[in-house]
Amino acid sequence: MKRIEAVLKQQEILCAETPAEPCGIVVFGASGDLAHRKLFPGLFGLYTRDLLSRHFYCLGCGRSDYSEDAFRQTVRNSLMNSGQSVDARKVDDFLRRIYYVSGNYTDDVLYERLREKLTELDAAYEVDGVRIFYLSVPPFLYSEVTEKLGTLKLSCPGATGRLQQVRLVIEKPFGRDLESARELENVLLRHFNESQIYRIDHYLGKETVQNLLVFRFANSLFEPVWNRNYVDHIQITIAETLGVEHRAGFYDSTGALRDMFQNHLLQLLAMVAKEPPVSFEADSVRDEKNKVLRALRKFRPEQTPQFFVRGQYGPGQINGQVVKGYVEEEGVSRSSQTETFVAARVFVDNWRWKDVPFYLRTGKRLKRRLTEIAVVFKQVPHSMFMTAGLEDMPPNVIRFQIQPDEGVYLSLQAKRPGSKLCMGTLEMAVDYQEVFGVKMPDAYQRLLLDCIVGDQTLFTRHDSVLASWEFLEPVLEYWQSHTEDLVIYPAGSSSFKQASDLIVSDGRAWRKL
Ligand code: BG6
Repeated sequence: MKRIEAVLKQQEILCAETPAEPCGIVVFGASGDLAHRKLFPGLFGLYTRDLLSRHFYCLGCGRSDYSEDAFRQTVRNSLMNSGQSVDARKVDDFLRRIYYVSGNYTDDVLYERLREKLTELDAAYEVDGVRIFYLSVPPFLYSEVTEKLGTLKLSCPGATGRLQQVRLVIEKPFGRDLESARELENVLLRHFNESQIYRIDHYLGKETVQNLLVFRFANSLFEPVWNRNYVDHIQITIAETLGVEHRAGFYDSTGALRDMFQNHLLQLLAMVAKEPPVSFEADSVRDEKNKVLRALRKFRPEQTPQFFVRGQYGPGQINGQVVKGYVEEEGVSRSSQTETFVAARVFVDNWRWKDVPFYLRTGKRLKRRLTEIAVVFKQVPHSMFMTAGLEDMPPNVIRFQIQPDEGVYLSLQAKRPGSKLCMGTLEMAVDYQEVFGVKMPDAYQRLLLDCIVGDQTLFTRHDSVLASWEFLEPVLEYWQSHTEDLVIYPAGSSSFKQASDLIVSDGRAWRKL
């Protein structure tokens, strides 16, 4: 297939970034992996792009007993290893704004210590604005920490008195099934208002995912064909080459359905399938996503095998490297039945999408890393070209590639110059990095900034969390009592028979990995 590249016609049409208000961020779990891989580098990225207020500080809080200097050194190391260009003077300036308190999350003493420190830092940095509590702790601690913040009145607004100024950020997973999600939501909403809660699904912070909104709703070309009359089906893929890494403790009791499907995959589906929101405001956008999740076709637990397939990676090879099977990974039970791969066929029962299949798949230790949404259009109804049959004219596909190399691609049939009739498939490519000439910012920078400026558009709302768990209830129930359908696939595969059958039985095929 030949590729033609796009060029940027006009530098900037609209470029809006809300300046950040004075802000103090408290990071619970500050010595943990997420904080060091994503949060501190993300905040530092915003700091170097001058997107944080001068009145900004960050208070780390963790169980490890660090002195403030020792903690700053750990943050310095993380920034140096983060892959972004770091100016030593900026690092020093940034680190001066970082503080640390240690303690036990279940102990009131920690929260009293926090209160004192926050009062001192608010005064020193003249922060009478936003206060963010970022829970970068294991999910089983969410309720406990939220209860403490609530009952000890740290969730209360400061002198400005505006409720939204105190914000709580939590990371997926939000519960592990409908019941536990409801319990968690009850605790969150007992102590915080929905307008204060920022539920992070970091996929929504990725550039191509955000671009779906602009692509669909700032162009008139695509909406008329974005429906069951023109779209044959949609495929959404999140394929990883990585295995479980050092997260076996969490992953083995979680699995791909809870880790990737309930959140990232369903959110991508909602973004591509939703109706045009009335405005680019958080609740307008989230209302439309929620309607999609509520319209997902329900089925009974025993019907699960018709719609969902799961697998677990066995030993294999990726890029010529021999890798272990899942059950041989450190920390994984040898008899584990946890799925590392899920494929599904789902339907959105509304006027626009009735009977258009959405094929979703995600897996670890697959052949290559790829995240994409492919909208596959219907084939032309008739071939007018004497020698070419319909099978010679593959359907048009619009592909949103989320990683690696973010971009939008449109495949078309075109005539080759010269001979009377010679056709081939072209792909029009908009590679963001090439076209805009900038390195894609990490999703966390976007999400942290949105949280600081109080924009909830890219955060998951309470009702969507519950709607997606509700949809998956039958699958969880069925899989709990039927372990026989777990397929072991060799690491490095692109698929396996049962996953292929799910789509082949409809007369279609998975896109190549
Ligand atoms: C996380 C999952 O939410 O997303 C991980 O818990 C997964 O298991 C990760 O590896 C993938 O994120 P990304 O941004 O690297 O595609």
